[in-house]
Amino acid sequence: MAEPKTNELMEKIVSLCKRKGLVFQSSEIYGGINGFWDYGPLGAELKRNVKELWWNTMTRFRDDVVGLEATIIMHPQIWRASGHVETFADLMRECPMTRKRVRADQVDPQSGSVYRFTGGTSGTSGWEVTKPFAILLEKGAHPESARKKAREYYAQGTAEAKAGDLSSIQLLGETITPVENSIDFHPESGVELSEARPFNLMFKTYVGPVESEENVAYLRPETAQAIFAQFKNVLETSRQTPPFGIGQIGKAFRNEVTPRNFTFRSREFEQMELEFFIKPDEVVEAIAGGVVTVPETGHPGEPQPNWGWQAWHQYWVEERVKFYEGIGLPRETLGFHRQTPEELAHYARACVDILYKFPFSKKNEKGELIGEELEGIAARSDFDLSQHERFSGKPMGYFDDELRTAWGKLEDSRKQELSNRYYQARLKYLTKTGLATEKAEKKAREDVEGLAKGQYIPHVIEPSAGVDRLILALIANAFCEEEVTDEKGKVETRVVMRFHPRIAPVKVGVFPLLKNKPELVSKAREIRDLLRPHMNVFYDEAGAIGRRYRRQDEAGTPFGVTIDFDTLGEKPEMLDTVTLRERDSMQQTRVKISELLPLLLSKIR
Ligand code: GAP
Repeated sequence: MAEPKTNELMEKIVSLCKRKGLVFQSSEIYGGINGFWDYGPLGAELKRNVKELWWNTMTRFRDDVVGLEATIIMHPQIWRASGHVETFADLMRECPMTRKRVRADQVDPQSGSVYRFTGGTSGTSGWEVTKPFAILLEKGAHPESARKKAREYYAQGTAEAKAGDLSSIQLLGETITPVENSIDFHPESGVELSEARPFNLMFKTYVGPVESEENVAYLRPETAQAIFAQFKNVLETSRQTPPFGIGQIGKAFRNEVTPRNFTFRSREFEQMELEFFIKPDEVVEAIAGGVVTVPETGHPGEPQPNWGWQAWHQYWVEERVKFYEGIGLPRETLGFHRQTPEELAHYARACVDILYKFPFSKKNEKGELIGEELEGIAARSDFDLSQHERFSGKPMGYFDDELRTAWGKLEDSRKQELSNRYYQARLKYLTKTGLATEKAEKKAREDVEGLAKGQYIPHVIEPSAGVDRLILALIANAFCEEEVTDEKGKVETRVVMRFHPRIAPVKVGVFPLLKNKPELVSKAREIRDLLRPHMNVFYDEAGAIGRRYRRQDEAGTPFGVTIDFDTLGEKPEMLDTVTLRERDSMQQTRVKISELLPLLLSKIR
């Protein structure tokens, strides 16, 4: 059975996103553009908070990672070196009638009766078309609807089609057969899909005024390649040495065949990527005497000099999970997928996908959500830098004095063993690039000679996350409807976005109890101005206080501060205090204005 296409919870979330100004359809006034989304006032704040937290966690709070901000359009050779020009394609199938395309691996199974025809002829114009056409009708559908579609198909572009009269068209070779769970028919039109063809996902453009082949450029499909291309510049200017990383946040573009699930699969999106450059295992072994092995799950602890790629990979998986937990996505909302050897790219040694259990995710046989990819953490060997070295002709290696010294002290048998392993790894890469055996062996031998002198191409661990997918996960996770009873005993549904205070678009709402009392309003504005330099504050004086609270609950604002007559000293013991309301518990406490800022800061950081 195919999954239901609509998901009630997702519909509520999408509608709230529009209503509250989190996410809007791009170009909505012109009917929208498929796969493109805008962030409204609240969404823009949410996104900014998430990106800032990633940036701080991954670069500023670490000694071993620095940042980069590169251009979206780069030299087209970059995409040849990375393999994107040749292989960054999805297999796609087309409905021959509507020309709508679907990804071959994303067609939902359908059952029913297939009406096949071998051709059509016109009784009035005399033309005859012989080509197969097939359409699937669901059980109970009228057979004439299949024949009508077939006539429309064969009559395309003819006088009959222009006149809108297809009554003279006869269909040839009709057969009817039942099918179960077929993935060969377009999900909307029911028409049999064309053969699968690869479709490159990169957006093309031209640099300069001449639209010629040599001026073709691409909008980057990932931010990662700029990091590899600038590796040497960063290495030389940042005083970093492997193991160290370069992080980047920025736009990426993919002409996805079937953008879907709201912002989950978009054509323009943002990525937060870290390329973490490590020593090859042979180098670690030469310097540290061996490489530690760690279990495949659990945090391996603080980085150690004897960590090889496997420990680093595991470390980054756990660091990334810690990040998600720290912004309000508990481990149980996440899933993990360790790619199988068949799924792995040929250069990758391992890849763990961190999944979030979205409402639209597929379910396992127990009916539990499996999750969809938020982030992939890949161990990419030395493939990327090697490719850029090959395509640019510029050396991408690193000279490590510690390795040179350590190598000199190794016993011959150890040198031989490490050299052999390094040679085999380099040879495997070089052969894959298409080099003739003799040339590949010669180059691999040179690489081994380089290793003995302290020279190597760093390997890479890449945690690569999508900002927009994370935003969608945070919105889905925060969404909550609950029944509450007001002071008058009336039960109503409260929609509350339980964003973690760290990422909440607005941190605090400031409310004078009444807007027509200048003393209350001026005190409230004073408090707004006190808090504003430190956090995003929303000042609201319109409507009943309960309504103002509800509005902020829906916006996900974790705290509300109300200024009332007690604040002004109506009860002298309460002078200069305010009510602090917590969004989730709805509890209200009295807080001194002088203590408000440090208290709020301790809760939102
Ligand atoms: N440099 C590696 C890389 O780009 P990827 O798995 O293709 O790997 C990394 O993309 C992340 O980017 C994904 O885990 C996902 O969060 C995000 N992403 C990829 N394609 C996306 C799309 N069409 N829409 C939204 N996010 C996308």
